[in-house]
Amino acid sequence: MWHGGLKNQHEIMFQNHKKYGKIFRMNLGTFKSVQIADPALVESFFRSESSYPKRLEIKPWKMYRDYRGEAYGLLTLEGQEWQTMRRAFQTKLMKPKEVAKLDVKINEVMADFVTSLGRACDENGCVDDIYFELNKWSYETICSVLYNVRCGLLQEKCGEEALLFIKSVKKMMQYLGPLMVTSVSLHRRLNTAQWQQHTQAWDNIFSTAKNCISERLENQPDTGAEDILSSVCQDSQLTRKELCGIFSELQIGGVETTANSLMWAIFNLSRNPCAQSKLHNEIQNALHPGMFPSVKTLNKMPFLKSCLKESMRLTPTIPFTSRTLEDDASVGGYLLPEGTVVMINFHSMTWNEDYFSDAKDFKPERWMKEHQMSNPFANTPFGIGKRMCIGRRLAELQLQLALCWLVQKFKIHATDKLPVKALFSGVMIPNRKIPVSFEKR
Ligand code: HEM
Repeated sequence: MWHGGLKNQHEIMFQNHKKYGKIFRMNLGTFKSVQIADPALVESFFRSESSYPKRLEIKPWKMYRDYRGEAYGLLTLEGQEWQTMRRAFQTKLMKPKEVAKLDVKINEVMADFVTSLGRACDENGCVDDIYFELNKWSYETICSVLYNVRCGLLQEKCGEEALLFIKSVKKMMQYLGPLMVTSVSLHRRLNTAQWQQHTQAWDNIFSTAKNCISERLENQPDTGAEDILSSVCQDSQLTRKELCGIFSELQIGGVETTANSLMWAIFNLSRNPCAQSKLHNEIQNALHPGMFPSVKTLNKMPFLKSCLKESMRLTPTIPFTSRTLEDDASVGGYLLPEGTVVMINFHSMTWNEDYFSDAKDFKPERWMKEHQMSNPFANTPFGIGKRMCIGRRLAELQLQLALCWLVQKFKIHATDKLPVKALFSGVMIPNRKIPVSFEKR
């Protein structure tokens, strides 16, 4: 791990599962873990999960919040406090009917994104940094959904604060890995460069979230718009500090992950022109010229949903999650003591030929109704159980609408066929700028 392994831990785990099987034990820096990667094992593990499941503690994040006197959000809270907070957001963010209402807002941002992408393309259709352009799109969308605020990131002159937020999320993720596998309290005591950088990044993230919340609640209190912040404020009694804690985590959850998943989908389609042209045909058949996609029209696009599912299988944004056992438990025939960290390696399952034939190929057809055979626990890019991603439905809608717009407006080309390796840095990032270009249709 010390020799560059942190960035390759998904690959190391994949190799280890091949060598040791579906369950093995491993020391990871300061903690001991048990690694699992088998759909049946994962299913039985989650069938008996506790009322308040715990992930591996993200100590650097907690330490920052304690240091600055800030509140925890859904990613960091535990126990009953986590459940109360989760319930306050569950309906708005996870109920399909509620999320479906957001398609208008998402489309508004998408219309601006298509224009800004056209502007960012050079004469060959290449964009200097497509990942960063997608971050601007995801930031603009999440702010519109959470706060009914538009930040102007897709205009020619973009807002400095929003840009700083995006850069700060990337910086914070970069320092998180090393701080997780060493003693973060020692880093803080010695005030190491890593601790300082991580703190600075979180200061920027919290400051932006606080400004967004103030802008919505103080400067436009009576607009009656359907945004998550105002509806949560109507239905619950959360303090301003609690709102800042939870919304800063929702905002980071919404910025880095969706942009990353869309980037990998663009990359996979650029390398699979047949799938792309099949997808374009499906979109043409489902939408009349000039018509915007909506939740209703997306239901006529099963291949589009399959393309996204396949992209998230082949190139997942997050390759694993974890649970810390609150009681002794039997897992895969082994008795694991309370406190054991169980790592669930999604990536090791989705690349395993036992569960997916031609696992390293992009084959969206495998998700079409007539072919579907795999165990649903073999591909869970949003996690599983009570602590599954709360932004899942929103992210899926965002990605489906975005892919529909992009493929409708542009032909996506691969500008080279050399390998692009995925590296772990909180999310799976490419080891170089993804080689794609956009041709207007
Ligand atoms: C948790 C993936 C989008 C907010 C998670 C987890 C995963 C994940 C794997 C851990 C689940 C578990 O431990 O079982 C993704 C992916 C996304 C995405 C792949 C996009 C493609 C979003 C969005 C938001 C968000 C848009 C915000 C609206 C969160 C939060 C949690 C979480 C707050 C913690 C939930 C809890 O512990 O109760 N996500 N996510 N995510 N995600 Fe997402």
